[in-house]
Amino acid sequence: MSPPRALTIKTDKGEQLTLFQAGDNLWHCPACGSAELTQQPYNELGATSFEICNCFFQIGYDDNPLASSEAVKGIKNNWSRWRSLLLKEYSGQFDKLERLKSQLTKIGINEPITEGQNREVPPSSLDHYHDPLLSRLYDQQNPWGKDCDFYLAQAQGHEHTLKILDLGCGTGLLTTAFAKAGHDVTGVDPAVEMLNIAIRRPYGDKVMWMKTSAEDFQSEHLFDLIILSGHAFQVFLGDEDIQSALQTMKRHLAPKGRIVFDTRNPEIKSWENWTPDKTKESLTLPPSNKYTLPEEIEVWHDLGNVEDCGVGKLVSYNTLYRKKSGSKNNPVKTSATIRFLTHKELIRHLDQAGLVPEEIYGDWDSSPYEAGSREIIVTAGIKNHK
Ligand SMILES: C[S@@+](CC[C@H](N)C(=O)[O-])C[C@H]1O[C@@H](n2cnc3c(N)ncnc32)[C@H](O)[C@@H]1O
Repeated sequence: MSPPRALTIKTDKGEQLTLFQAGDNLWHCPACGSAELTQQPYNELGATSFEICNCFFQIGYDDNPLASSEAVKGIKNNWSRWRSLLLKEYSGQFDKLERLKSQLTKIGINEPITEGQNREVPPSSLDHYHDPLLSRLYDQQNPWGKDCDFYLAQAQGHEHTLKILDLGCGTGLLTTAFAKAGHDVTGVDPAVEMLNIAIRRPYGDKVMWMKTSAEDFQSEHLFDLIILSGHAFQVFLGDEDIQSALQTMKRHLAPKGRIVFDTRNPEIKSWENWTPDKTKESLTLPPSNKYTLPEEIEVWHDLGNVEDCGVGKLVSYNTLYRKKSGSKNNPVKTSATIRFLTHKELIRHLDQAGLVPEEIYGDWDSSPYEAGSREIIVTAGIKNHK
């Protein structure tokens, strides 16, 4: 039997969604109308699938309870909101805007996106890890390395499999490696764009994924190993954020459990190399599904402010992306600020949180930390734990 061309769903919120199918296993994106999605965009209860269309709309992910109905039926009614999303998403990329306009026309939306042709749109600043482009390129920029070997080894040599909590798990490279090794793993990240990638990895179905921050994470379970890898510790900018993340770890640590995380050593001033000439690289954006082609993208960093914060630094930087085929277009820009904590300040924070360091390494070969080390890698447990 051939599948229905249109499917109407009534959600428990009383929304009515109409989804259109282009063929077997091929759905129209409810936002831009192109036949890009290989999964049904919403299930019968109105929950969104984890697939993102090539137009990069995060359908229904914007925490607006009306988002799902807006995406399908109400784009017109909410045009000013959609228009501003479009402009943010397609800033300066006029060829993409043109293509999108024709896609929108196909689903009956003829509203002008830009006022006048080729109006200059200032580059938008997107929240770094919430940029779907960044998450789709993240694994190429951060492939498996010695840091991953180090973390994986933390779970080895035990008689039984471990309960592992991976806070700030990102695209789940390590998380799923723990699952592959047979451990019981929970991966936590606030960026659904990163989780989108993580969940679809091999062994992604063996992991419990949760969309929340390290500060807000709550579970009734205790974990034998809690990690925060890939310098994710540096996303905590304020002392309170650091304390709150450390408290989450402490509260969820099993007796004899171990916390492991890493942060870059500010003494090395690695941010001084985050300039376009030193960081520019070409990456291949993988096709979002079997109907699209890979695209060559140029990516580079551009250092912003470096501020003193007590005994550490707050470093702001931009990451810029440009399609090679559209090299005349403005790049898409994301911005991030991260904190570099000194070794001394880190020890003070651990102490304040009631945690005690076991080892502090300076690199992934487990060499001890010293002033010129690149990394500060901490393994810690609970203070006065019998
Ligand atoms: C540099 S990536 C590291 C990802 C992964 N751990 C790795 O090793 O590749 C930092 C991650 O931290 C996440 N993140 C940002 N704020 C966070 C928070 N408050 N709590 C937990 N994770 C956070 C980001 O979404 C991102 O996925």
